[in-house]
Amino acid sequence: MDAEPSAPPAHDDGPSAAPVAPARPAEFAPLRLGALAVWPPVVLAPMAGVTNYPFRSLCREQGAGVYVSEMITARGYLNGNRRTALLASSRPDENPRSVQVYTSDPRDAGEMVARLVEDGVDHVDLNLGCPVRKVTSHGGGAAIPVKPRLMARIVRAMVANAAGKPVTVKVRKGIDDDLLTYLDAGRVAQEEGASAIGLHARTAAQLYSGEADWNAIGALKSSVSIPVLGNGDIWECWDALKMMRASGCDGVIIGRGCLGRPWLFRELAAVFDGREPPPPPNLGGVIEVMLDHARRLCEFFGPQLGMLQMRKWTAWYTKGFRNSSPLRERLRRVSSYEELVAELAGLDANEPFPVHALRAHRGKSGRAQRVSLPHGYLERRDDDTPPCERYDAAEAEAYDGG
Ligand SMILES: Cc1cc2nc3c(=O)[nH]c(=O)nc-3n(C[C@H](O)[C@H](O)[C@H](O)COP(=O)(O)O)c2cc1C
Repeated sequence: MDAEPSAPPAHDDGPSAAPVAPARPAEFAPLRLGALAVWPPVVLAPMAGVTNYPFRSLCREQGAGVYVSEMITARGYLNGNRRTALLASSRPDENPRSVQVYTSDPRDAGEMVARLVEDGVDHVDLNLGCPVRKVTSHGGGAAIPVKPRLMARIVRAMVANAAGKPVTVKVRKGIDDDLLTYLDAGRVAQEEGASAIGLHARTAAQLYSGEADWNAIGALKSSVSIPVLGNGDIWECWDALKMMRASGCDGVIIGRGCLGRPWLFRELAAVFDGREPPPPPNLGGVIEVMLDHARRLCEFFGPQLGMLQMRKWTAWYTKGFRNSSPLRERLRRVSSYEELVAELAGLDANEPFPVHALRAHRGKSGRAQRVSLPHGYLERRDDDTPPCERYDAAEAEAYDGG
């Protein structure tokens, strides 16, 4: 990452997207989530271990929209688990405040929403897309929409306790190509009073492999009258416009594209306002953002945990810069803010941003899986009994899917 010349880096995932025309005046409307009008129609995806207050605040300063917390396990929250409470927490500058709930129990769902609203939360999202084996094998996450009556009970309980605040749901296409659930989920969400439905257009079996199926987003949009949020493979601001134009969806959810690139929200704000996006920062600018991010993490989690959290971010921020792998190795081991500053000193601040790495996947690998469901689960699809949720705070925190 110093000025040392090196071969052009490999294109991880192909060249950057061809730009398209920024939005025309009134081409897109603000996203309506109940009484909330969101402009631009952009939502930061809930991401476990990622969308804590420090990252949300960093992104929010770049653009506007809704910035959702990582999934917060209802059992942990209701049991008063301290770490869960910290992850669900916010600061007065966060407005609107948005929390994603994970549970498969209607009673917990209702209770948690009531508590969140009391605590000042403006929007609650329900995670119905977690593909992780430990979750689906107990009938949670992506397994819930397989049982539409159970899903209905959960959403109903949340809406009933939300005091008029918007409740949304986030789903995947289904379990696998033979068991697609998203259209049923759209119907249930709408019938039970959800304000919008977000679709990560992959099945749980796909995890993060293959390409998101934007046609499915269009199909969902045609089948419901509540707003649809499209999600999957928005790496650049142009992708958001393309997805909205191709599918007719009402807003976009941004996941991995902003890992190590919070300025993506500034670019999105520009193109939705009809302007060309500002250029990405050079290495000097990226370092400033990285250090800002590290300070926010240390302030929120304390210096030790904050710097531990920062390690994964250093890999995302430096991805694609010249000769960055040895630097990444060193950054992965930093244990204090001062060490981070020292490692970054002396890099070539003028090195341009590596646009070839814009579409490089980050955060998740590309493998697929066979989804594990509880024994006999598919024989009782009409059943609305909540699965027996085995709660374990440490495990819950390790879940990272949607
Ligand atoms: C590190 C990581 C953690 C995630 N955690 C959650 C989560 O807590 N809740 C959720 O609904 N989805 C979660 N997801 C899925 C994202 O919200 C999003 O649906 C997915 O990454 C697809 O969008 P993308 O192609 O823009 O990344 C996670 C994804 C990543 C990469």
